[in-house]
Amino acid sequence: KLTVSDLDLQGKKVLMRVDFNVPLKDGVVTNDNRIVAALPTIKYVMENGGRAILFSHLGRIKSEDDKKVLTMKPVAQKLADLLGKPVTFVPATEGPELEEAINNLKDGEVLVFENTRFEDVKDGVEVKRESKNDPELGKYWASLGDVFVNDAFGTAHRSHASNAGIAANIAQTAAGFLMEKEIKFLGGAVENPAQPFVAILGGAKVSDKIGIIKNLLTKADKVIVGGGMAYTFDVANGKKIGNSLFEEDKLDLAKELIAEAGDKLVLPVDAVAADAFSNDAKTVVTDGDIPDGYMGLDIGPKSIELFKETLKGAKTVVWNGPMGVFEMPNFAKGTLEVGSYLATLEGATTIVGGGDSTAAAQQLGIADQLTHISTGGGASLEYLEGKILPGIAAISEK
Ligand code: 3PG
Repeated sequence: KLTVSDLDLQGKKVLMRVDFNVPLKDGVVTNDNRIVAALPTIKYVMENGGRAILFSHLGRIKSEDDKKVLTMKPVAQKLADLLGKPVTFVPATEGPELEEAINNLKDGEVLVFENTRFEDVKDGVEVKRESKNDPELGKYWASLGDVFVNDAFGTAHRSHASNAGIAANIAQTAAGFLMEKEIKFLGGAVENPAQPFVAILGGAKVSDKIGIIKNLLTKADKVIVGGGMAYTFDVANGKKIGNSLFEEDKLDLAKELIAEAGDKLVLPVDAVAADAFSNDAKTVVTDGDIPDGYMGLDIGPKSIELFKETLKGAKTVVWNGPMGVFEMPNFAKGTLEVGSYLATLEGATTIVGGGDSTAAAQQLGIADQLTHISTGGGASLEYLEGKILPGIAAISEK
């Protein structure tokens, strides 16, 4: 694939799709990970004499009111703080103001234009020009620059005007360094992992993870399943689960997966169960049935040991989804222990994908000790399912 370092950037207007879809509170960016992750590409373009034209979506725009809250202005400000350099913010997604600002941009300078999804609503009507990849919009944005660098891995599962649309209308689309890194680690894990390869999957719902479980069962040596979704597998194994999360319509599927996977699939052997969904609930640790009136909210100590034993010696680990309700301190232990164990694995490539597990890794303070924390939520899930992501497919070959 073509990457930004293959391009001659001097004096070029460089269109750069980034994923600056970051959380905001009262108009302030509360987590700048995605901005920080895009800095290497932005700095590289600036240092090599390119004129960086940055754009991203932010949230979902369904009405004119949404536009008041979801402006890119505070994001551009955050970028300026991180770069320690001025960033021009243009409050438009098209038209003379934007075009003039681009024409006034000098080599090594950077501008950010308004939320690409503002194009989804025109005069109060939902037209979805960006989200439905209106061909005219992609063509227009492509006309504003000389080359296109796509560094928005987090948006790679969307086929929108600001990624696929531009790529279809410009001579060359190159991956940014973040995109390259995500493909290297997530793509490497699903295509060519160093073995043993162990996947740890968690999270509340089986239905969200079916694709990943199925795909990784074909690639990994072991697939550990914890978190809320494990209880549907417990029922499939004939256990009683009290009031724990259960997806009845996924029971047959769970049975099938258990039968197909054999000892490749590693399930919890005990649980920390609570009499209410609350940090202060009364708890019991059970290694058999969960009593009526109780719900499993974390894996128990024997599961923690079993999972660590399974992970021992792994050379590739993909972690997606927490082992319990880690937001509540009394049910965070499983996620914490398993997550910190990953950080001790020697010579292993440890990859975290998906919003929740990323939040857990950060909350646990182990993010720096893991090889790669993906900036993708939905994108990393779809990638781990083995799907072709339109944003990646649209990058030119070398
Ligand atoms: C994300 O946060 O997962 C991406 O930025 C995509 O956002 P979307 O789900 O609103 O398309």
